[in-house]
Amino acid sequence: MTTASGEPLHEFGTKHITGGLSRLTEGIMVKGSGSYVTYEDGRTYLDFTTGIGVTNLGHCHPKVSSAAAAQCMNIVHSQCSIALHEPYARLIEKLLPIMPHPSLDSFFFWNSGTEAIEASIKMARLFTGRQNIICMQGAYHGRTYGAMAVTRSKTVYSQGAAPLMPGVYSIPFPFWHQQRVSPTTDAEKLAAESLYQLDLLFAQQSAPQDTAAIIIEPVLGEGGYVPAPPAFLHGLRKVCDKYGIMLIVDEVQSGFGRTGKFFAIEYSGVKADILVIAKGLANGFPLSGVISRKELTDKLMPGTMGGTYAGNAVACAAAVAVVDAFKAENVLDNAQARSLELFAFLNSLKGDPNLAPNILDIRGAGLMVGIEFASPAGVGGDYDPAKNPSSPKAMASRVTKKCQEKGMLLLTTSAFEVVRFIPPLNVSSEDLWKGCQIFEEAVRDVVREG
Ligand SMILES: Cc1ncc(COP(=O)(O)O)c(C=O)c1O
Repeated sequence: MTTASGEPLHEFGTKHITGGLSRLTEGIMVKGSGSYVTYEDGRTYLDFTTGIGVTNLGHCHPKVSSAAAAQCMNIVHSQCSIALHEPYARLIEKLLPIMPHPSLDSFFFWNSGTEAIEASIKMARLFTGRQNIICMQGAYHGRTYGAMAVTRSKTVYSQGAAPLMPGVYSIPFPFWHQQRVSPTTDAEKLAAESLYQLDLLFAQQSAPQDTAAIIIEPVLGEGGYVPAPPAFLHGLRKVCDKYGIMLIVDEVQSGFGRTGKFFAIEYSGVKADILVIAKGLANGFPLSGVISRKELTDKLMPGTMGGTYAGNAVACAAAVAVVDAFKAENVLDNAQARSLELFAFLNSLKGDPNLAPNILDIRGAGLMVGIEFASPAGVGGDYDPAKNPSSPKAMASRVTKKCQEKGMLLLTTSAFEVVRFIPPLNVSSEDLWKGCQIFEEAVRDVVREG
């Protein structure tokens, strides 16, 4: 592929695209079909990145693409402050029965996850008349200013860009790294420590009466693929009920079947006051949602929520087809079955005496699975519980690079040595096994090379 003047399109694009973007692969991706993507030069990869947890039904799912194409021939843009369009209302009709709690009955659709996070923070402040927001150390919520302020997974997202939104405080996510304890620490213990830190925060930094919201990912995503212990989520709910604080549950990455249930919060049964969704919702079409209680959202002045492209008709039509496909194709059942296979495989690697010293932790839920390797230096140097001087350097990025050479796209996550598996939820057992074999070869290569 070339430009009109004959320059290779990839070089031209790279030259003129902002340096602020990073990219996992070289070349131009031209096609996606199910669990595979193809590049201009003919390379085909098994895609276990799903565009960072988005194409949960695989690339170009025929029912989703057809629904979007059909909507394109009716109306593409019926701006949300001008008129309601049919897919907007139909999508609400589809989502209401699958909401993790029946109280979540008032919807606002936007485009991206970060926009929806902004809306959730704004709603929490308007609902409570308070300012402060408490987030988790290790959290990722997006790259706009409010979302950046509650993001604590890597400094790169906000480095040099201050001042961020004020009024934000944080406690450690109940994750062994965040508390500097052993990877085998009991989940209840981690939960108790984080809840204790929350009490300290209320006593020392942000009075409950000044606190509008606590925001949490039920499975920490960019912070390392760590499910929150149910005891912690219940503890947060109790505190929110006691003080009238909004619990914002960010299911942008963990939602839409990713963990084997429609929403990860279902594992604990904890009620969210505000639920944020995006990514898999429309399987690649830009769409996010903020869902709360009508009794609360009725208090918002008309005009406080909106946006030119918010709840686009084509994206909503695609999302309607997504929900239908989940049901018709038993996608959640497949995700759960494949999850068992994936965990069994990763645990078998950990059981291999040659690899075991380099594998610290295997964790996650459904098909949101992380494997953490040891590190010879550790982020925290001598204080780091992940430190193992005899482990190879930079294992996570080297393993994903080798996987790419062997035909599979796979991503790292977090400031630690973590590789994440986010295959399509309808991946076949054969393709999952193929991916596992590639991964095993890559890990063995890196360990051998040292
Ligand atoms: C948990 C979580 N929240 C919010 C976001 C931001 O979403 P977006 O990239 O669509 O702005 C992400 C993106 O990865 C995410 O994982």
